[in-house]
Amino acid sequence: MPARLEIEGGIPLKGTVKVSAAKNAALPALAAALLTAEPLVFPNLPDLQDVRTMIRLLQTLGATIDRDGARVTVRVARVMKDEAAYELVSTMRASVLVLGPLVARHGSARVALPGGCAIGVRPIDQHLKGLARLGAEIAIENGYVVARASRLRGASIAPDMVTVTGTENLMMAAALAQGTTIIENAAREPEVSDLAALLNAMGARISGAGTARIEIEGVPTLGGATHRIVPDRIEAGTLIVAGAITRGDVTVSDLVPEHLEAVLAKLDECGVAIEVGPTWVRVRGPERPRPADVVTSPFPGFATDMQAQLMTLLALADGSSRVTETIFENRFMHAAELVRLGARIETEGSTAIIRGVPYYQGAQVMASDLRASAALVLAGLAARGRTEVARVYHLDRGYERMETKLAGLGARIDRRT
Ligand code: EPZ
Repeated sequence: MPARLEIEGGIPLKGTVKVSAAKNAALPALAAALLTAEPLVFPNLPDLQDVRTMIRLLQTLGATIDRDGARVTVRVARVMKDEAAYELVSTMRASVLVLGPLVARHGSARVALPGGCAIGVRPIDQHLKGLARLGAEIAIENGYVVARASRLRGASIAPDMVTVTGTENLMMAAALAQGTTIIENAAREPEVSDLAALLNAMGARISGAGTARIEIEGVPTLGGATHRIVPDRIEAGTLIVAGAITRGDVTVSDLVPEHLEAVLAKLDECGVAIEVGPTWVRVRGPERPRPADVVTSPFPGFATDMQAQLMTLLALADGSSRVTETIFENRFMHAAELVRLGARIETEGSTAIIRGVPYYQGAQVMASDLRASAALVLAGLAARGRTEVARVYHLDRGYERMETKLAGLGARIDRRT
């Protein structure tokens, strides 16, 4: 039986907890190792399932890995294989991040189409259009993307929508292209800026990361670098909501407050007491949150990856809230599980109406995707009685020892296998 978490709810969390490095920055940073024959050193790589999957994928492509505690050195002295097999890609969509670097460094790549996932179809057409603009020949053969280019050439690229890994894939490919590339409508997420900082440390010439217009002046080769991965703003937001929903008093440290502005503003609107330091946030939960409406949008807007966690808090508000999910077409699966815990939520397309209830009642629930599983844990922390969250492998993909961190704040939470 897959691992599950058992939670005795109703305990206000208290104390300080450190945020780990960001999953969504670690994954592209690891893929960047394909761009050079020199080693990349990551002193604070998070120990997550998705990070382990990406490392395994890189090893099949020829990478050697050296670990010294959290410090991980990745080196692809030579690309031994250019194929990212379906078995790996189907378990982690972010595998598509090896596509751009492989074409740029090695001249060819065969990457399985990721297929859909629980939260949506999630095509990669913008990745492919951008690579074609850079001069790659792209074909789809038997469920694989086959890409070839003797030398990529700089070009102007404008994805039809903001795509985080699309921007990252194209930025990595353009770093070794001949000439200058402009990416318009680029994703502005902090993880994109963190990747640009790593690439520049490797010798790339990238400007504008963090804005909607990124300029990449191609260079002939890239070297090694040592890079600390940026803190995980989504884990930070999740832990802050944990303090809020349990009426606790929690300080979440080792974070970048500027990466959480939309989330902190929304929690303030819900009556959560927020105190912001240079690298920490102190949160004190209200007796009962106030309702609020939220619409997800690309950074610096309210992150879709925090939508499930906020909905969990809003379900206890003294009034009705409206949540609109604009990024993915099926990201309300946590709603049905929250209803099993006593929430009153009705979803209609991309909108959910939440009518606040005074409390959750513990129950058995099932995780469906990474952030939905985090939301169910949050609900369990607040619920009266015991909650059991099944299929907690979803949680392990993106949270480093979440139950240990929560137990450190006083939560009664155990992993059962
Ligand atoms: C990244 O996914 C994150 N993953 C996701 O986090 C996050 O939810 C998402 O960005 C949005 O912020 C990583 O960074 C590894 P997109 P990504 O390309 O890049 C459509 C988590 O929980 N689209 O920005 O795959 C797409 O279908 C995960 O940590 C196309 O149509 O997301 C979606 O509706 C979940 N064609 C929208 O754009 C494309 O070629 C945004 O997707 C690319 C995207």
